[in-house]
Amino acid sequence: MSDNKNEYVLKMENINKTFPGVKALSGARLELKYGEVLALCGENGAGKSTLMQILAGVFPPDKESGEIVYQGKPVQFKTPNEAKKAGIIMVYQELSLVKDLSVAENIFLGSLPMKGKHVDWKTLNQTTQKALDELGSPIRAQQIVSSMPIAYQQMVEIARGIALGAKVLILDEPTSSLTEKEKNSLFKIIRLLKSRGIGIIYISHKMDEIFEISDRVLVLRDGQPTGNFVTSEITLDDVIKSMIGRTLDNYYPKCQAKAGKEVLRVEKLTLSGIYKDVSFSIREREVVGFYGLVGAGRTEIMETLFGIRKPDSGDIYINGEKSRIASSLDALKNNMGFVTENRRGQGLVVDKSCLENVSLAMLPWIKKYGMVDNKKCLELYNEYHDKLRISSPGPEQRVGFLSGGNQQKVVIAKWLALNPKLLILDEPTRGIDVGSKAEIHKLIAQLAESGVAVIVISSEMPEIMGISNRIYTIAQGQITGEFSGLEITEENMMRAITITDSRKEA
Ligand SMILES: Nc1ncnc2c1ncn2[C@@H]1O[C@H](COP(=O)(O)OP(=O)(O)OP(=O)(O)O)[C@@H](O)[C@H]1O
Ligand SMILES: [Mg+2]
Repeated sequence: MSDNKNEYVLKMENINKTFPGVKALSGARLELKYGEVLALCGENGAGKSTLMQILAGVFPPDKESGEIVYQGKPVQFKTPNEAKKAGIIMVYQELSLVKDLSVAENIFLGSLPMKGKHVDWKTLNQTTQKALDELGSPIRAQQIVSSMPIAYQQMVEIARGIALGAKVLILDEPTSSLTEKEKNSLFKIIRLLKSRGIGIIYISHKMDEIFEISDRVLVLRDGQPTGNFVTSEITLDDVIKSMIGRTLDNYYPKCQAKAGKEVLRVEKLTLSGIYKDVSFSIREREVVGFYGLVGAGRTEIMETLFGIRKPDSGDIYINGEKSRIASSLDALKNNMGFVTENRRGQGLVVDKSCLENVSLAMLPWIKKYGMVDNKKCLELYNEYHDKLRISSPGPEQRVGFLSGGNQQKVVIAKWLALNPKLLILDEPTRGIDVGSKAEIHKLIAQLAESGVAVIVISSEMPEIMGISNRIYTIAQGQITGEFSGLEITEENMMRAITITDSRKEA
């Protein structure tokens, strides 16, 4: 492969795509060389996923479009399968493995090695194991997929792509559910594939990753190419400017107000096997961060506060009074809001409109008075549409048709519309572009300054350090540290989230 290092494996020219009411791409272009990592950047709704789905045969471009040239020949794949067979592999955020089958079966699904009439299990498992070992992966070929963490499942998808003879690998926001360590193993794999001449298209909103892994950066804005850079020759500001047309000065504004009276206190909350002896408190005008690895139990603790899980023991005090939160409705009555990390599961009704989704959390109250106040709902929608810069053709658009980041903004809008006194945000900026991220951070600070108590869960260290007044660290279901002011340092927090880990291993 090294002899064609400077050749293009892929060229897309003048690609257009119109959805009802939306021009998703106009004149988009992309060039990718063998053995190159191309970062694809742009605001939420800029057209990144659409461009890649056209390449991968999910849907066709508009008729009046230019060419797609792959390995020197014009192509237009009619189905994802056709693209896959030709060597164009797309790994989506929502992974597509068959959960009840083994890793090996998943990798060779549709082309299982046979011995006469029977599957040749030995060859199957050996070939798979070799492929996994080559990627430096600890996964065993016979493991059942459903028992594995997301990061491993993603690795299996990549291994499957390689086994299929991938020439182009597309990763659409691959690290959004990965820990730092998992991200590093993914990057190792990317470097390996690169050295084998595979062209990689890497979509991400995490700017540090883009600078770490990419050779070139392509920026889309409103479906048009606005930047095509060699990564080593540019700065973060160049990318941001090309993405949103201006630079950003303050990514992490902090709430500057003095904390008021206690809003919530939790004492020795325990849910067997999930979290143990969890005690913490939060006051008005305070942003409290919960930092820990994915899987540390952060989400489960917050779900308990919101009445989704029932603890075995422990007490919850709201405004100084011992309270029982048996359901989400109890939580709502106590003026609590909860932006969940899983927007498709708990956050949104994807086949309903943006308008309906924004008004969703208010329904118990709206129902109480017997009718839905459409005018009020529309006012709410418009208010948050502007505040969060939601990119949607209109209030009636189905949420499922919005880009990933814009769906997340609708979830946040839905909860803000309730005017909560305590707002819990679980990974609120996952999949959100840098510009909107800064807006959401600003909004969090403003909310706190206006009197709200805000709890933020995040796996992103710079984010949690930047916006929190106080931070609790969590590891394996236990609070391992509490930091404020100058104690909030990277080193302190890293140490605190690995404490129980080493204790357990020892
Ligand atoms: N199936 C669809 N029907 C209607 N509109 C769609 C559909 N798919 C995408 N769109 C619209 O096309 C535009 C581009 O969306 P796309 O998903 O490509 O954005 P993106 O750059 O991937 O954003 P994000 O960073 O949020 O994932 C958006 O305005 C989106 O709402
Ligand atoms: Mg996308």
